[in-house]
Amino acid sequence: TWTAANIADALVEQVQAQVGDGRAICGLSGGVDSAVAAALVQRAIGDRLTCVFVDHGLLRAGEREQVQQDFVAATGARLVTVDAVDKFLGDLDGVSDPETKRKIIGREFIRAFEGAVTEVLGEAEGTVDFLVQGTLYPDVVESGGGAGTANIKSHHNVGGLPEDLEFSLVEPLRLLFKDEVRAVGRELGLPEDIVGRQPFPGPGLAIRIVGAVTPDRLATLRQADAIVREELTAAGLDGQIWQCPVVLLADVRSVGVQGDGRTYGHPIVLRPVSSEDAMTADWTRVPYEVLERISTRVTNEVSEVNRVVLDVTSKPPGTIEWE
Ligand code: XMP
Repeated sequence: TWTAANIADALVEQVQAQVGDGRAICGLSGGVDSAVAAALVQRAIGDRLTCVFVDHGLLRAGEREQVQQDFVAATGARLVTVDAVDKFLGDLDGVSDPETKRKIIGREFIRAFEGAVTEVLGEAEGTVDFLVQGTLYPDVVESGGGAGTANIKSHHNVGGLPEDLEFSLVEPLRLLFKDEVRAVGRELGLPEDIVGRQPFPGPGLAIRIVGAVTPDRLATLRQADAIVREELTAAGLDGQIWQCPVVLLADVRSVGVQGDGRTYGHPIVLRPVSSEDAMTADWTRVPYEVLERISTRVTNEVSEVNRVVLDVTSKPPGTIEWE
């Protein structure tokens, strides 16, 4: 019978059979899938798994702590954190084009990950053979089902790494859907904050700032996003909302009034959507009282933001993210 406990046990055994007494590496994104995959592999092979977390400075409030404290406390996993914030923000300086942002972030992410892998390889004397990935069944179907090895292309500025590192892939979630992954994660003792988490794009808050990314803008967006998440959760809407990007229109200013003074601040956009798979989506009918609370709190508490607007576009024609 299908129970989360049975599935978790079976997957742990499968991982043990595949990895034997080898070593594995897993990149943690802060998301559900990589966290559950890592927790399963940790249970299967213990300290022979090293998790790598790259902090690119584009995460939401509290996410780094969630990985470093909550994930580690729940699983006992060995974690290497790479602090690459200055590098990412330096390279993104002045860039507003969405695809250029994505390219820079993708490139730097691989570099940072490789740097960490090189270190782990050094410690493990070159015997890391497996790369863990949180691939789900819908991803398998979408990509035509091919599996096997992953190539991480090395860059010339990363020393000590072979030209092309080859790993065998460990994908323990390959046959599962998202809700099943969440159930397995709960079974493994991961906190609700991690297993119940909304999908979040790899390029993070960089693609939720329309305009160039700066530390100040990131701080503004992080603050607004935390308020929105808090209020949606408090209103019991997490089950209805697939995700709710909060977007900072950093190049737009509008006039407002606060107390005796005129303000000239930025709008944020709320983009709550309901969806099954992110391929199509409908805008979520968030109750007016909740919208009102969010609007009041954000404009009172976030000094740069003087207007809150709601995106009522379905997908298609709108995408979920604004960039
Ligand atoms: P769109 O905006 O295309 O988003 O409707 C569909 C889903 O994909 C996520 N998304 C991304 N995820 N890298 C990611 O890892 C990206 O560059 C990226 N862009 C969009 C988005 O959050 C939504 O869940």
